[in-house]
Amino acid sequence: MREFWNFYSAGRLVFGNGSVRQLGRLTAERGLQRMLVISDPAIVQAGLVDRVVSSLKQAGIVTHVFEGGEPEPSKETAQLSISEAHRFKPDSFLGLGGGSNMDLSKITSMVFSGGGELDDYIGFNTVKNAILPVVAVPTTSGTGSEVSHAAVLTDHQNQIKVSTLSQFLRPSIALVDPEMSYSCPPKATADSGIDALTHAIEAYTAVPYQNLAVPMEEPTPYDGKTPMGDCLAEKAIRLIGKHLIRAVHEPENAEAREGMSLAATLAGLAFSNCAVAVVHALEYPLGAILHCSHGAGNGLLLPFVMKYNLATRIKEFADIAEWLGEDISGMAQASAADQSIIAVENLKQNIGIPKRIRDLGATREQLPLFAEKAFAIKRLMKLNPRNPTQEELLKVYQDAF
Ligand SMILES: NC(=O)c1ccc[n+]([C@@H]2O[C@H](COP(=O)([O-])OP(=O)(O)OC[C@H]3O[C@@H](n4cnc5c(N)ncnc54)[C@H](O)[C@@H]3O)[C@@H](O)[C@H]2O)c1
Ligand SMILES: [Zn+2]
Repeated sequence: MREFWNFYSAGRLVFGNGSVRQLGRLTAERGLQRMLVISDPAIVQAGLVDRVVSSLKQAGIVTHVFEGGEPEPSKETAQLSISEAHRFKPDSFLGLGGGSNMDLSKITSMVFSGGGELDDYIGFNTVKNAILPVVAVPTTSGTGSEVSHAAVLTDHQNQIKVSTLSQFLRPSIALVDPEMSYSCPPKATADSGIDALTHAIEAYTAVPYQNLAVPMEEPTPYDGKTPMGDCLAEKAIRLIGKHLIRAVHEPENAEAREGMSLAATLAGLAFSNCAVAVVHALEYPLGAILHCSHGAGNGLLLPFVMKYNLATRIKEFADIAEWLGEDISGMAQASAADQSIIAVENLKQNIGIPKRIRDLGATREQLPLFAEKAFAIKRLMKLNPRNPTQEELLKVYQDAF
C-alpha cells in the first residue's frame, strides 16, 4: 500500500501562440548565456531554427546549432551531439523539434554535465545531480517530452529502445508555441498525436498509486494512476477527440493545432507522473526492429492492448469513449467501454496509422522475439491494469499481426 503520490513538471511552462518570440528574454532571465540548439535538417528547412535563434540573439545569448538530429535518435547520434557540446562548451541546451530532438538535448546535457559514458545513464535514477538547464520547444504535438522526465534512444546493436528516466531530466523551461507545429507534416502529426492519446489512456487506466507493487520508500519512475493524472488525461483525451483529425488534414488550422499542442503537454504531464504501460512496452521492439515511428507503433497497438485490458477497466474505457466524442447515452457501461475501442480504430483509419504489424514488413516468426523483448521491460508491466505473462503479450502481437 503506497500512501501518497507526487507530481512533477518542467520548471516553468509557457504556452501560447507566438510565445517563441519571448524565448530569448525568458532564457536570459535565467542567466543563461551560451546555448547549444539541438535540431535536425527538417526543422532547419522549416525555418524553425531561424525563429528561435533570432529571439535568443536579440537577448544577447550566444548560440551554436547542432543540425544532426534524426527521428528516433540512435546512441551514435547522441555521441555526436555530446561531442559537439564538448567543443562548444554551452551553459544550457535547447531541444527544438519533436520528441527526438528534445530527448537528444536532455541526453546531451546529462552526459556533458555529469561526465562518464552514455551507457552509465541508461535506466531509472542513474542521474545523480542536476544537469545543465534544458529548454524544450516542441514542434510536434505528441510526446510531452517538453515536460517529462524521460529520454529515449534507439540501440541498433541490441535492437531495442533504451531510456533514461530521472526527475533531473525535466526541462527547466517548456515553451509550447502551437505555431511551431504548423509545418509539422501530416504523418508526424498523426503519429505523435496518437502517441499523446496513448499516454493519456495508459495513465488513466493504470494501476492506482495505492496498489502499485513497490514499497513506499523505494523510488519509482511512475506513481500509477492519481487524481491529478486523471484530470490531465481526461482533458487531453477530450482535446484529441476534438482536434487530432483536423490537425492532420488542415495543418494550418490554428484551433486544431492549439488544441493538440495543449493535449500533448497535458498527456505528457499525466504519463510522466502516472504511467505508460503495455502499449509502450510492446512498441519498443517494433520501433527498434521494424523502424516504425514511436507514435505509429503505439497507435497500431493501442486498440489491441485496450481489448486485452478491457474487462478490468470497464468504467474507465466507457469514460474514454465519451471523452473521444462517442454518443454513449443509453448504453450499458460494457457496451460504452467497447465503443472506446471502435473510436480509436476509426481515429486510426482516419489519420492513416498502420493497421497491422504485417503492414510494417514483419513476419509471424518474429513475434516471439518481440514478446521476449517487451516482457523484459518489467517496470512497464507493473503499471498495466493486467499483469501480463510473456505468452499473453505474444497473443496480443498475434492479434495485431
Ligand atoms: N521523452 C519522452 O517523454 C518521450 C515520450 C514519447 C516519445 N518519445 C520519443 O520521441 C520520439 C518521437 O518524437 P515525435 O513523435 O515528436 O517525432 P520526431 O521528433 O521523431 O519527428 C518526426 C519528424 O518530423 C519532423 N518534424 C517535427 N516537427 C516538425 C515541424 N514543425 N516542421 C517540419 N518538420 C517537423 C522531424 O524533423 C522528424 O523528421 C521517439 O524517439 C520517441 O521514443 C519520448
Ligand atoms: Zn509515447
